[in-house]
Amino acid sequence: MKKYKIVLLSGDGIGPEISEVSKKVLKKLSKNHNLDIEIIEELFGGIAYEKYGTPAPDKTLDQCKKSDAVLLACVGDIKYDSLARELRPESGLLKLRSALNLFANIRPVKMRKSLLDASTLKKEIVEHVDLIVVRELIGGIYFGKPRGHITNTKIPKAFNTMVYDAAEIERITEIAIKIANQRNKKICSVDKSNVLEVSQLWRDTVLNITSKDKNISLSNMYVDNAAMQLIRDPGKFDVILTSNLFGDILSDLAAMLTGSIGMLPSASLNNDGPGVFEPVHGSAPDIAGKNIANPIAMLLSASMMLKIGLNEEEASENLETAIDKVLSKGFRTADLAYGSSEVLSCSEIGDKIMDEI
Ligand code: IPM
Ligand code: MN
Repeated sequence: MKKYKIVLLSGDGIGPEISEVSKKVLKKLSKNHNLDIEIIEELFGGIAYEKYGTPAPDKTLDQCKKSDAVLLACVGDIKYDSLARELRPESGLLKLRSALNLFANIRPVKMRKSLLDASTLKKEIVEHVDLIVVRELIGGIYFGKPRGHITNTKIPKAFNTMVYDAAEIERITEIAIKIANQRNKKICSVDKSNVLEVSQLWRDTVLNITSKDKNISLSNMYVDNAAMQLIRDPGKFDVILTSNLFGDILSDLAAMLTGSIGMLPSASLNNDGPGVFEPVHGSAPDIAGKNIANPIAMLLSASMMLKIGLNEEEASENLETAIDKVLSKGFRTADLAYGSSEVLSCSEIGDKIMDEI
């Protein structure tokens, strides 16, 4: 029996509800596929701040480093918005990404036939959507220094720095090339090089690295145009390669093509060491505790964890198929509901998925 140690961070808001479903599903998959997956739960985000005064306690980070993979639900709540920036749950997330050196964030966006009607866009626009956002995750304006507030001026000022060095751009480009080679071999690199020096370096470096692989066809797009093209004709994208901030924005946009951000998983990876697998959505404090959240993005993240993090392809496929079956039968959570579909709670849709495993 193969043994794995995973860390589960259920975090804040709807996190505990969707984690509960994920735990049950992982247990059933383990049984069916003869896997020994030890699930270690640690505090992270607002809940860790409440107990230890920091959103990313050392104990949590140490466990994550020692694990085979980390499954994370979501963190954050408006009640922490008034805390010093380094104490906020979001800063804990950035600390975790940086501590594990997770420079590559992979966000697949694929239209499921059963959800065609859940998209706010016309069917013929979204039916062929099958793209992956490859987002640089531990650089750019999120981490650039100097940053801060200047308060001794007449008018208060604040500033951040968008900075990349060529090595950071190279390594994320290599990841995009690897992924594109398993797909349609098309990379669209997104930047703002008509205005920003850092984007010019991005564009030049991406061109330099991709030109070494003759199989890859590279295009470049300014980020404003990319946002427009993603709405106009999303089916033409294959791999979108972009920086931290642009990737954050475009991946939320891309998520909505497929109906709900409640469907979008992600993997944050390094070249070695454990990855963090987490839904793209946030903690949705407005619906927390009501058992109405959609657990599927977290389940799809668990599926990515099985496939990429643990190399357990069969278990991963089993889970994906189970989710597809439940959706094809017309079962929906509230975020996906339309017309005559049957609306289930978070735990109910979890149980339906369990039945298909
Ligand atoms: C995401 C989130 C995070 C980000 C926040 C919560 C810090 O929006 O993973 O997309 O901006 O990266
Ligand atoms: Mn985001």
